[in-house]
Amino acid sequence: MEKFVSSWSDGKTLPENYIFPPEQRPGKLILPTSNYVTPVIDLGKLDGPDHSIVVHQILQACQELGAFQVFNHGVARRLMDDARQMLDEFFKLPAEDKSALITSDPNSKFKMYTSTVNYDEEKIHLWRDAFQQVCTPLEECIPHWPAKPAKYREIIEEYTRKVNELGLRILDLICEGLGIEAGYFANEQSQHIELIVNHYPVCPDPTLTLGVGKHSDRSLITILMQGSVPGLQIFKDDEWVGVDPIPEAFVVHIGNIMQIASNGKLLNGDHRAVTNAYEARESAVLFFMPTKDCFIEPAKALITAENPPLYRGFRYHEYLAAHNTARRLKDPDLLLKPFRI
Ligand code: OGA
Ligand code: NI
Repeated sequence: MEKFVSSWSDGKTLPENYIFPPEQRPGKLILPTSNYVTPVIDLGKLDGPDHSIVVHQILQACQELGAFQVFNHGVARRLMDDARQMLDEFFKLPAEDKSALITSDPNSKFKMYTSTVNYDEEKIHLWRDAFQQVCTPLEECIPHWPAKPAKYREIIEEYTRKVNELGLRILDLICEGLGIEAGYFANEQSQHIELIVNHYPVCPDPTLTLGVGKHSDRSLITILMQGSVPGLQIFKDDEWVGVDPIPEAFVVHIGNIMQIASNGKLLNGDHRAVTNAYEARESAVLFFMPTKDCFIEPAKALITAENPPLYRGFRYHEYLAAHNTARRLKDPDLLLKPFRI
């Protein structure tokens, strides 16, 4: 059976099972905003006299929004473009090639799907085709990644390595901002890395449907590359605001685990992706997650008599179970509630 939106959509009609309830619809055409509500931070300044200003900008963005963009981040523009090109070529492969990568094996290192992995249980589907690819341990995973396009493994390996390095740097900058020791997160708390790549085909009516609904990430942090097509939005002060697409920048999201690890000092920013009627959009999203058995708790260095722990300790697999339940029941309160003291 052929399910991919990109295979069956005629670009003219939006089937009923892609129409969201009125309160969840974007409702108006989303244009690039260019008001930069999401701060755009120059990591190139870290080596100069403005170092502490940059650290402060990052911390403030994490506290107020749960997201920021970075440029001069050390990942070559050429590599970003090559990775985007590769992902674009992947989604242009014949549907048979992509169908062959659909699997129901929960332990598979590569899963192709449309909408979500729970497509069969959904009443309303998301306007996207996507895949999820496990990236750690890298050497073990690569043979399970797609063999087509020919340079896919080589380029995506390089991309993953470089963005992994950037992620660790950003985690250390967050440590610095919070006043906890460098390297605090550079262990099992961030070591499980997955790449999700979203392909949002041109949509007949972007006002009625969504590419990804409102959510916060199940990660410690997430690093997203979105190219030049707008679509990512952040929920701020009860309003959706566009995150301006900047091809040389990455968007960093604070995930639910960082909110807990920072004892609520940093915010898990809610976000979503809308579609558009003109141009397909792709995003490559690297999730830095704890390993399944990793013990998560608010960092002890942040706990004082005035700042008692807001969350109990737990193992990450326990969180993942709660996360899946919250998603299934569409109840975002269940994401962190089971862990609140
Ligand atoms: C995600 C996500 C947004 C986007 O995959 O978790 O938030 O712009 N994607 O594709
Ligand atoms: Ni997300």
